[in-house]
Amino acid sequence: MLDDKDRIFTNIYGFQDWTIDGAMKRGDWDDTKALMARGQDQIIEDIKASGLRGRGGAGFPTGMKWSFMPKEQKPGKPSFLLINADESEPGSCKDREILRHDPHKLLEGALIAGFAMRARAAYIYIRGEFIREAENLFAAVAQAYDKGMLGKNAAGSGYDFDVFVHRGAGAYICGEETAQIESLEGKKGQPRLKPPFPAGVGLFGCPTTVNNVESIAVVPTILRRGPQWFFGIGRENNKGTKLFQISGHVNNPCVVEEAMGIPFRELIDKHCGGIRGGWDNLLAVIPGGSSVPLVPAAEIMDVPMDFDGLRGLGSGLGTAAVIVMDKSTDIVRAISRISYFYKHESCGQCTPCREGTGWMWRVMERLRTGDADLSEIDMLHEVTKQVEGHTICALGDAAAWPIQGLIKHFRPEIERRIKDKGGAPAYAVAAE
Ligand code: NAI
Ligand code: SF4
Repeated sequence: MLDDKDRIFTNIYGFQDWTIDGAMKRGDWDDTKALMARGQDQIIEDIKASGLRGRGGAGFPTGMKWSFMPKEQKPGKPSFLLINADESEPGSCKDREILRHDPHKLLEGALIAGFAMRARAAYIYIRGEFIREAENLFAAVAQAYDKGMLGKNAAGSGYDFDVFVHRGAGAYICGEETAQIESLEGKKGQPRLKPPFPAGVGLFGCPTTVNNVESIAVVPTILRRGPQWFFGIGRENNKGTKLFQISGHVNNPCVVEEAMGIPFRELIDKHCGGIRGGWDNLLAVIPGGSSVPLVPAAEIMDVPMDFDGLRGLGSGLGTAAVIVMDKSTDIVRAISRISYFYKHESCGQCTPCREGTGWMWRVMERLRTGDADLSEIDMLHEVTKQVEGHTICALGDAAAWPIQGLIKHFRPEIERRIKDKGGAPAYAVAAE
């Protein structure tokens, strides 16, 4: 388990003052100028050496992403940092806590990261539904300007750096980085084909790096404590601390910072007081937000909760939003509901996703009620394969994978429902 002294987010539960005065007492904005004086290339090297991988779900190495940004600015083409605070993945609720309770970690990180990649400004694109979080963020930005930490000669560094906050309007797809850029430019939020990646052609056609809130908020602490400190936590290729968000059928759902690679059972026992009704009552877990396939109880117990550990199970760490389901869950209904979400949120510009998400949801609903033919299970699986990998953005994959996970692990339950024309889940009856 992570030692208290290694926790980065010291106010994640909001017990202390989140304003700049409170944040400064906890060490934020402490001689930021000295951190920046290490130089842009050294900061990027330090972040590379720390092993930090993107915390928005994909796990792309953060320092490497920054190194794609140009060192020389072309006339009329300033560089930008875009901070993705459009946290909308079902199950994810970690960036929300940072925005509410520790916004100055994010703002100090924005200045340092923006400086390292030679950005003129940072845009923070915040989810429209985050009302209180946006209030705190706007206030924190004003406090940082008042104290001279942002704006001209930011933090006394001699570097000019602005931060702009933009509120979204409730579309899940605007969390996809290129859709977010389109939205910020005032257009309909629809993903662009990649490449070009944003570092080549990003916001307003300028070089842009898009980073998740947590990825940026950990940067000042990594630099203060040294990259080797962060690198010393976790497992090879899966370094540092991570905010886990555990929801569902545990005794104490929570957001907690832990070491990458903590085994699943330890995470739940230590922080959530175990599974509701005891460990024998666990049915399945969606370990990384709704976009990754579920894992049945028997397979996940001692698995390290990190990118490689969960990929080894055919799932993923994603945003580390751990959705726990006990045997009272109607698993077919749960996955059908997720299918509806993706159908609803598809932006509609590519056919496999626009048509496929609706088709998959309708078949899922018929499997739920048992009003289907047994042959449709394989047909549904085949359609998920036609959607996966054949779309512009990852939403198509995200719609396909939960269904593939269901068919892989709960096929007998789907078949039973078709034979019985619906009814309560067989495993739930057995558990009673
Ligand atoms: P991705 O793998 O396409 O890209 C990840 C990042 O690496 C992007 O910033 C991309 O520009 C960069 N990148 C990848 N390959 C690159 C290359 N060759 N050159 C330069 N840059 C490169 O994944 P994507 O679509 O950005 O994110 C998918 C993940 O997002 C999913 O795994 C899911 O877990 C997560 N997600 C998170 C949500 C949230 O609310 N936080 C919502 C929905 C999905
Ligand atoms: Fe839009 Fe879906 Fe295509 Fe993504 S995969 S661009 S959400 S239609």
